[in-house]
Amino acid sequence: MTDIAPLILHGRHTSLILEPVVQGAPLWRYWGARLPDDITLPPLSAHRPTPSFSLDENIFLSVLPGFGVGWFHQSALLAHRDGRDFAQTITTTEIVEDRACNALSLTLRDTVTALALKLTLTLAPESDVLTIRTHLCNEGAVRLDLQWLAAATLPLPSTADTVHYFSGRHNNEFQPQRAQLGRATWRRENRRGLTSHDTFPGALIALHNTSQHTGLAYGAQLAWSGNNCQTIEWLDDGTFQWQLGEWLAPGEMLLAPGDEYQAPEVLATCSPYGFDGVARNFHTAIRSRLPWPEGGMRPRPVHINTWEGFYFDHDQTALMELAESAAALGIERFVLDDGWFYNRTDDSKALGDWWPDAVKYPEGLYPLAKHITDLGMEFGLWVEPEMVNPDSDLFRAHPDWALQIAGRPLLTARNQLVLNMALEEVQDYLFAAIDTLLRTLPISYLKWDHNRDLTCAGGAGGRASYHAQIRASYTLLERLRTAHPQVEIESCAGGGGRIDAGILQHTHRVWASDCIDAVSRVQIQNGFLNFFPPEIMGAHIGTAPAHSTGRTQAFDFRAAVALTGHLGVELDLRTLNVEETMRLKYWIAFYKQHRESLHQGAVWRGAAGDSLTWQAHGQAQEIASRWLLFITRAQPTELRHMPVVPLPFVDESARYHICQIEPQGAQGAVWHGSWLSHHGLPLPPMKAETVHIYEIQKI
Ligand code: DGJ
Repeated sequence: MTDIAPLILHGRHTSLILEPVVQGAPLWRYWGARLPDDITLPPLSAHRPTPSFSLDENIFLSVLPGFGVGWFHQSALLAHRDGRDFAQTITTTEIVEDRACNALSLTLRDTVTALALKLTLTLAPESDVLTIRTHLCNEGAVRLDLQWLAAATLPLPSTADTVHYFSGRHNNEFQPQRAQLGRATWRRENRRGLTSHDTFPGALIALHNTSQHTGLAYGAQLAWSGNNCQTIEWLDDGTFQWQLGEWLAPGEMLLAPGDEYQAPEVLATCSPYGFDGVARNFHTAIRSRLPWPEGGMRPRPVHINTWEGFYFDHDQTALMELAESAAALGIERFVLDDGWFYNRTDDSKALGDWWPDAVKYPEGLYPLAKHITDLGMEFGLWVEPEMVNPDSDLFRAHPDWALQIAGRPLLTARNQLVLNMALEEVQDYLFAAIDTLLRTLPISYLKWDHNRDLTCAGGAGGRASYHAQIRASYTLLERLRTAHPQVEIESCAGGGGRIDAGILQHTHRVWASDCIDAVSRVQIQNGFLNFFPPEIMGAHIGTAPAHSTGRTQAFDFRAAVALTGHLGVELDLRTLNVEETMRLKYWIAFYKQHRESLHQGAVWRGAAGDSLTWQAHGQAQEIASRWLLFITRAQPTELRHMPVVPLPFVDESARYHICQIEPQGAQGAVWHGSWLSHHGLPLPPMKAETVHIYEIQKI
């Protein structure tokens, strides 16, 4: 039995191995915990005898399993040419190993059906995140109808036990769900035309022994803001294949000879440190991809957003007063939300008419914007570029610009339709409108909204235009960012309907949810943090009662929950009493004092006892010397005594000074790291809907 020369990529804590084959796509041999540098292995065929009543040639899981030529599980590719060329398999492979980038570049061809696929797998050692890019070219002479191309086919071990995925709705995003893996295929599909509130395009996988902080866990997410599909399918050797990709509508992807299709990127990772390790890997990877102006993140400014405080009721004098109060409290960015543009008195009209309303703003937005910047704050503006109301000048002039299917009704949602972003005229109109605003006003921030799903998404020639729509939105974002490189952009879609690693290549913050109820936010934000870092998670202090739920929570609780993201305030400051105003000022100062540790380091999360959750933010990625620990009790305790909270993030060989800083507790005490890690920190009693914050300093 001779060893083969496998293709190996090592990360810090993980490794992957592919096995090249003579005529075919490289086989998946391994993706899991780190293996030694000098690992060798015999070919797969050497220890897999042919089973009875099976093909005489074994077909193993490859990076690109085809259909109809011996692979009986889901293929990575489903395509045909007018019913022909329906069966594909890779016949030739060229491999380029890029050691400098820790990447493998595979050019795969099916010479029978004249298809070329390029796969790049890059394993970033600092994050252990594997980025997979897949690209298909129709090299044949006849048009190809592409139905499915997996953006990645990943192997999961036979010990994979459960898939943890995230579902939800408007006001209730990132709700954790789980399903047992077995012989039935697990499948999630999103056909809403944008990322959606209810089908997050990613998941986490637990093995039999995975916990929040220990055991191997896997995670993957699609960098795409449109339709998507993921499946996990049991394979004949008891392992699983996990595919993620874009869900394509019938006939949507017709590739003429020479045409290409770029699948969305996949970010995939595994970690020996459980789910939390996977989250930290994703945080590192997303941080390295964010398109910050001038290449680096500035301290995240405290926002005030006008939406819940004012809705459509824009009174310039009141907004100027709001700006003054905000500046006096230390707020750093003022975001003027929906309601500022021509004729926008409620949500039934005016989307598309992107110039200031002369009734509300007789001299345009400049006086307000200047007032805000004179106060030392940045000025941000809300827009919803992809949308148009039937009751708007834009729609009256160009009814054909909306996505539509001849013979079908125009289905409105929130009274609005969606523009066909792939039309050049639409791109130019929107670019000109937003560019004018950015050029004539001191705007340094855009909140970019998208308040409905896509229906009747017919584009050119009546063909489905979901894919083109997303690519065109990305193009417009890029065009505007190129023209205005200093502007930061927030992605919002009725709250968290467009949060994904694709939109985050073009934007810098997301609005996690329209639900600002702090109890609901604990779960929403915790779900979010599985995939994205806290500094891009818009988290605001809202009113009591919360507009979305009607529940009332204490001011400090609302503030402390918001503090773990990118802090903002979303209420009319005039409604606060003296005590609340003082507390708001205090929390804003607290956030500014701690935002460096809150935003750039490692985040650990856990639960203890009953409804107690904790989140620790350390100053460095590895073992930090200083941590901020947030202990949150959302519900009343069911325990007679408070539980202790084990702190798995501390250095077991060190000692720590721990002090409760909010609400201020006793003097503080010194604890041994080993005790904190294995036994835990004892806590004082906590009432429901409270947060305690501790400072943990290594000594
Ligand atoms: C939905 C967003 O999530 C809100 O924050 C707000 O911007 C409204 N749209 C405005 O219409």
